Amino acid sequence: MKKDKSKYILAIETSCDETAAAIIQDGQKIISNVVASQIESHRRFGGVVPELASRHHIEQITLVLEEVFSQAKMSIDEIDAIAVTEGPGLVGALLVGVSTAKALAFAHQKPLIGVHHIAGHIYANRLEEDFSFPLLALVVSGGHTELILMRKHGQFEVIGETRDDAAGEAYDKVARTMDLPYPGGPEIDQLAQLGEDTLSFPRAWLEEGSFDFSFSGLKSAVINTLHNAKQKGIELKKEDIAASFQASVVEVLVEKTYQAAKKYQVEHVIVAGGVAANRGLRNALKDKFDDGTIKLSIPPLWLCTDNAAMIGAAGMIAYQKDLQTDWAMNANPALDLEIYGDR
Ligand code: KG4
Ligand code: ZN
Repeated sequence: MKKDKSKYILAIETSCDETAAAIIQDGQKIISNVVASQIESHRRFGGVVPELASRHHIEQITLVLEEVFSQAKMSIDEIDAIAVTEGPGLVGALLVGVSTAKALAFAHQKPLIGVHHIAGHIYANRLEEDFSFPLLALVVSGGHTELILMRKHGQFEVIGETRDDAAGEAYDKVARTMDLPYPGGPEIDQLAQLGEDTLSFPRAWLEEGSFDFSFSGLKSAVINTLHNAKQKGIELKKEDIAASFQASVVEVLVEKTYQAAKKYQVEHVIVAGGVAANRGLRNALKDKFDDGTIKLSIPPLWLCTDNAAMIGAAGMIAYQKDLQTDWAMNANPALDLEIYGDR
């Protein structure tokens, strides 16, 4: 049995295509962290197949849990609460994590904590560095592109969001038209390092002062350019297409983040979600915020993509506020971040 006063959270994440579990000490220290990725199984279909994802989660979840306890050299008796991704995500995938967490919490009489997936991505940063408020989070993942203002822990105000595709979705769709494997983000990122922004794709600034995003016009521009070149028999360099697309996405993301950070006079800017792994975005943000007046945190690559450590870090905030979720909790594919924060 543990002897210290620390609080240990067991966290589970199954919202998409990673089956993950972690044990987190006091919301900021990773004791153990296990991620079983299914990417290989989905790759041949060019995207995540929901039914396949659920089946994989069912096969993996007990193995992942055994591994996380074995790596931590802990037993469930030493755990203070169980946190799980409640939504958003694929409903069948979420259900595996939620049912597992409920069963464990009920059987072992532990508090159950539902966590919003995006709150998790944001709190991944707190495993590296504490937050300073007001804080602005640029969330860029396969399903989300949002600018979120936080004035205190656990509270979220969406000040801008995508009106169509998420940034990661745009990456994946453009990659598919370029015949690159799934997921396309890392593939385009790699090609972009070797190319030049020669095609000058449009930048979607939207109305003056808006912090919303739009990527569907850019996606169409890339697709049209590819089709036109093919019809005319012109060969475009894949590296230049990737670099031009990435330059457009990154310029808009960085500029809007900077403008919002100034407007809301934030102390701290953080980046979260799978697209935060993008090298072009990471470098451009570092350049933009290099005068040091606003603290910038960019998580290490392995914390950008889906994992359960981030769910444990976010779950700790709810635990500290005594916000237990009741046994009626269900997987909620449309869970709203602001409403979640107001609980
Ligand atoms: O956060 P995440 O792992 O899953 C969701 O919650 O959506 O994000 C996955 C997304 C995919 O669209 C993937 O292509 C994108 O993140 N991604 C990247 C990079 N690495 C992952 N996009 C651009 N550049 C990267 N290096
Ligand atoms: Zn995610």
